[in-house]
Amino acid sequence: MKAKIVTLPGDGIGPEVTEQAVRVLDAVAARGGHEFTYESALIGGCAIDATGNPLPDETLAVCKSADAVLLGAVGGPQWSDPTAPVRPEQGLLKLRHHFDLFANLRPVKAYPALAHYAPLRADLLENVDILFVRELTSGIYFGPRQEQGDGDSAHDTMLYTVEQVQRAARVAFEAARQRRGKVASVDKANVLASMRLWRRAVTEVAADYPDIELEHVLVDACAMHLLRRPASFDVVLAGNMFGDILSDETSVLAGSLGMLPSASLGVGSFGVYEPIHGSAPDIAGQGIANPVATILSAAMLLRHSLGLDDDAQAVEAAVEAALASGARTADIADPNTEPLSTSAFADRVLAHL
Ligand code: IPM
Ligand code: MG
Repeated sequence: MKAKIVTLPGDGIGPEVTEQAVRVLDAVAARGGHEFTYESALIGGCAIDATGNPLPDETLAVCKSADAVLLGAVGGPQWSDPTAPVRPEQGLLKLRHHFDLFANLRPVKAYPALAHYAPLRADLLENVDILFVRELTSGIYFGPRQEQGDGDSAHDTMLYTVEQVQRAARVAFEAARQRRGKVASVDKANVLASMRLWRRAVTEVAADYPDIELEHVLVDACAMHLLRRPASFDVVLAGNMFGDILSDETSVLAGSLGMLPSASLGVGSFGVYEPIHGSAPDIAGQGIANPVATILSAAMLLRHSLGLDDDAQAVEAAVEAALASGARTADIADPNTEPLSTSAFADRVLAHL
């Protein structure tokens, strides 16, 4: 098949990990006889430096012409002045909003090869296989706000409509049907009005899915249960901010923040694929970042935007095989093993592919 993929490498380690994921996509194209063409564009801090805008119009236009977008990461200390009029993260939020990518899928797996290294007991990690469905284009990230505050106060607003909750909920219930048939919906219904609406809206959708088991979990308790009984979770449905926080927490189960991919989807097949981690300015430019999250994001791109499920599975299997054969970047390495560079790790994945 033919596909146009736009890469938005962004800042920090973004370009390093994106480069390796593109190598993997190239290998997939070569073995499957596909023709992938790429175009690269600016987003985040590098876009601010070049144009003053974290999401230039040209970037939006290029993305619009693509079948899918592979994104690295945005942000860095040089753009983090709290009084700055524009921030790199605004580019990412605008991109998600512009294409109405309301469903953010964040799968979390615990790899047996890494179990001994994770800070949790290995027996707790057995059979961990969670899919976060994070609502991505509403909630407190996009509610009415007072951008600069007035000096003495500032506010953001957690606003949800029934429709916004229910379209994300449907994605979660549909996913659960293909998985183990369970949805845990995360809220804070004991305190927040917007979250009481969330619970009601999700319960209404559940009526259309009598085959799916629905559990409502308060976010604070959920943060604890995800570490205490991670294997009991199947699909976790959460709002924008709670999903952001819980998915970083849950990366501990996978061994590192550098392991988790994501897909941001709307109604069609177009999607934006990115690691859940940030730009890691502390290790940028050293060639030591873990490319797994971005490589697995590329696998999600193959599956969800290009319909190449076999190729996606092959990439995921190659990552797993590389890990099983002992390939490690610094973030997941044992103290007494020599970690691989970003590209050397990708070489190991490519060898298995
Ligand atoms: C994520 C990130 C972003 C978010 C930031 C960079 C805006 O943390 O994708 O999880 O909060 O959504
Ligand atoms: Mg995050």
